[in-house]
Amino acid sequence: MRKITIKTPSEIQAMRQAGIAVAVTLRTMRDAIVAGETTTLDLDDIAQETLKTFGAKPALLGYKPSFSAVPYLHATCISVNNEVIHGVPKKRILTTGDLVSLDMTASVDGWCADSTITTAVGPISDKARRLMLVTREAMYRGIEQARIGRTTGDIGYAIQRHVEKHGMNVVREMVGHGIGRTPHESGLDVPNYGKPRKGIPLHIGMTFCIEPMVMLGGSKIEHADEWTIVTSDGSWAAHWEHTVAVTKDGPVILTSPPREDPVENANFATSDEASLIS
Ligand code: MF3
Ligand code: CO
Ligand code: CO
Repeated sequence: MRKITIKTPSEIQAMRQAGIAVAVTLRTMRDAIVAGETTTLDLDDIAQETLKTFGAKPALLGYKPSFSAVPYLHATCISVNNEVIHGVPKKRILTTGDLVSLDMTASVDGWCADSTITTAVGPISDKARRLMLVTREAMYRGIEQARIGRTTGDIGYAIQRHVEKHGMNVVREMVGHGIGRTPHESGLDVPNYGKPRKGIPLHIGMTFCIEPMVMLGGSKIEHADEWTIVTSDGSWAAHWEHTVAVTKDGPVILTSPPREDPVENANFATSDEASLIS
């Protein structure tokens, strides 16, 4: 176990530059999806091109995470429907009704940021839409806890409570993580479940990813291939993720879009308050 790294305000500012590149790139990918035409590999190409315009590097390209024996060969992970995370971009055409999570890590001047959005291709089922919304709301419930005096258990508890209140389940095997000069910093796991006041105490300058993965069915997962994690029961999954810094003024989201995002705000206008979904 390594020591948790603490970032200075200027290092957090550097991570924000990567965060802006990630936020805009994810939304560029989302907006490029044409049902029946776009493949997940097309979206990875778009990501690589968009990152260049920010002087940002695809941090996952050639990256070997601790959980894999081989390096990853794409800029993004794209997971569709029953795929939970680490879906590999390929010549898979996205079609109406698909639920797609777009996950990427990029770096600017050596500092990383990591974020995931889930989006719908055209109209989707009510169940899938609820899944997408509840997962996003759960992420924000977790982010709200990223404060001095709180713990990783407070974050996990807030996420788990919101998800289970809506009859869904969090994935337990995969967790949020510290981030900085590398996509994953060891020593700071952020589970999507937990108990209040348990886990790791939070301090100013900690930077980590909060990333609930939520399933409509049971919480069991398995490998479909070298990388792709799918639900064991075939039920659909959603994934949202932000990179967050703990500051004296509370949680700061480093991967939010630079300006207001009208599309997202239209969908989630009141989600900070009581749940849209009862
Ligand atoms: N972005 C992923 C995360 O949220 C990491 C993917 S590592 C890869 O932690 F090698 F699978 F791409
Ligand atoms: Co990620
Ligand atoms: Co992550």
